[in-house]
Amino acid sequence: MIKPYVISRIGRKLPINWVKKDEGSWLAQNFIGDFIIPPINSYCTKIEQLAEHTNQKGNQPLWEGYHGNNIGSSSRKPNTVRSVPAIGNLFAYLVQEKKPEIIVEFGTAFGVSGMYFLAGLNKNEKGSLLTFDPNEVWAKLAKENLLQISNRFKLTVGTFEENIDNILLHNQNIDIAFIDAIHTKEFVIPQLEIVIARAKKGSIIILDDINFSADMINCWEEVSNDNRFISSLSIGDRVGMLELK
Ligand SMILES: C[S@@+](CC[C@H](N)C(=O)[O-])C[C@H]1O[C@@H](n2cnc3c(N)ncnc32)[C@H](O)[C@@H]1O
Repeated sequence: MIKPYVISRIGRKLPINWVKKDEGSWLAQNFIGDFIIPPINSYCTKIEQLAEHTNQKGNQPLWEGYHGNNIGSSSRKPNTVRSVPAIGNLFAYLVQEKKPEIIVEFGTAFGVSGMYFLAGLNKNEKGSLLTFDPNEVWAKLAKENLLQISNRFKLTVGTFEENIDNILLHNQNIDIAFIDAIHTKEFVIPQLEIVIARAKKGSIIILDDINFSADMINCWEEVSNDNRFISSLSIGDRVGMLELK
């Protein structure tokens, strides 16, 4: 069970905002109370050191596939695209509680969210992370980072959509998915449909940047009320979680 912890010991308090809550769902039984303070994972210091080392390398070129969907310059400093430590620790803890066989993540970027997922898998001593990113430069840096935490991953240099069926075996289902690629409804909805078709009852699907723009707010409103999900919630104003019926 994911319990509220003592703030001073562990760090940031993240509000839980329910959209749909079925008391019998895994989310309702595991997210108790109005907030969560994720415990700091034992790999956290190492992950943050690796992330800082990558950040020191400076701006790295954005994937050309962003085209008109890019806001700002054509490169990014690694720290500007990563999940923050409190959310990373939440991911690691979610993995420890849910005990997935298969986690799918896109995109990998510099491997920060992936390292936290791996930290959870290491604790469980089982499961794999399938992570996808078409940016060759970023993926190379990500692979170096991920390998420092675990070898329980397969990093595909390419898009999720084009590669998932070559990577996920026919007898495998997605237990946890993290959709963190191009933050527009036009991209997210078809990606979500691909995930749903390869997931099962009780699978948890996480969306990042649900508050990124009016378009993403609208996207979250639609998917969080979708009847195919038994429960849905947001953690703070950035991360959404859906549980499949
Ligand atoms: C916000 S970053 C991901 C941050 C990372 N998940 C983290 O928290 O550390 C978005 C990434 O998605 C990648 N991306 C964009 N479209 C994609 C797609 N269709 N499949 C896989 N990755 C994609 C981009 O190249 C970029 O590296």
